[in-house]
Amino acid sequence: MASSLPFSCADLVTRLLAWYGHAGRDLPWRNNRDPYRIWLSEIMLQQTTVAAVIGYYQRFLEKFSTVDALASAPLEDVIDLWAGLGYYSRARNLHAAAQMIVAQFDGSFPAEVDQLQQLPGVGRSTAGAISALAFDRQASILDGNVRRVLCRLFALEEPPRSASAEKKLWSWSEQLTPAEHVHDYTQAIMDLGAMVCLPRKPPCDDCPWIDLCQAKMLKLENQLPLKQVAKKIPTRNEVTLLINLQGRCLVRRRIAEGFLGGLWEFPTISLSDGENPAVKLSLLYDDFGLRGVAENIGQIQHVYSHFRLQTNIYRIEIEDLPRIAEGENSWFSLEQLQKIALHGAHKKVLAMLIGE
Ligand code: ADE
Repeated sequence: MASSLPFSCADLVTRLLAWYGHAGRDLPWRNNRDPYRIWLSEIMLQQTTVAAVIGYYQRFLEKFSTVDALASAPLEDVIDLWAGLGYYSRARNLHAAAQMIVAQFDGSFPAEVDQLQQLPGVGRSTAGAISALAFDRQASILDGNVRRVLCRLFALEEPPRSASAEKKLWSWSEQLTPAEHVHDYTQAIMDLGAMVCLPRKPPCDDCPWIDLCQAKMLKLENQLPLKQVAKKIPTRNEVTLLINLQGRCLVRRRIAEGFLGGLWEFPTISLSDGENPAVKLSLLYDDFGLRGVAENIGQIQHVYSHFRLQTNIYRIEIEDLPRIAEGENSWFSLEQLQKIALHGAHKKVLAMLIGE
């Protein structure tokens, strides 16, 4: 370990493990070393809270108890089971990774970080977590919680996603990761971030590192990590048509390949710059052989990482539908629509429809 750190790493680790011994959480994925279960939990926990994940994790294992079961399932079943958990690329990657484990790794998870990183959806931190938690390898992690802990511990006064910050944070994470008890250490630092080193108003008195934390010493614990500057993104426009027939609404499944693949959505058509939504709506009418007037009920916006989506929403009540477009189409009641894997923008459309 580098000597330039302002404290002894061994001391830090000892204190953290002692704290974890009495304060650590008992979570369903923690009482085993099965890499399949650990991988599944790590993917589900990306950008998602423990409370939201637990039920999904249990249902998922009931249906797909092994990596083989997951690999041989239709992608649509995996996506439908993921409904409501969000960030659906995780479900697609999970399925693709299961198939890769079966085809290229003889059905067994590799233990090394560089091999784990070849799996779709497994970045450096997730690979580190699987290697440490399932195989007790001296592998490091840098998820959102650990990033915050380290930004404060070392009082990093830089935007934490900059290339220079990233390098420092990984280096600190590696220096802190012990050669022994890596499994417990990894769970413990995750818990410290999730339970004590909170984004706002951290309860520092509960922290085993309170007297070592550079941010605390400088009274910067509420200022660090520095906020990320929002990047500018373009806006894309579309028109969405809610077709209602006797209390049910038509949705279709997007093709499996590509953006939001396999998710459900209301019939939608993209608008080019300056195009009139009402004119474009007529193309959707043609798809279904519709007649009559649709009512414009408003607009929603949804921000993705690389663009902002703005959709103009129209609604039409019909007695029968002359034609149905190609692909998988279904009629769902409002109650059913709340349970299916609608993509995020159209969840907002649904919320508008039910008046939330
Ligand atoms: N966040 C990411 N991985 C986690 C884990 N194994 N336990 C709790 N929270 C987590």
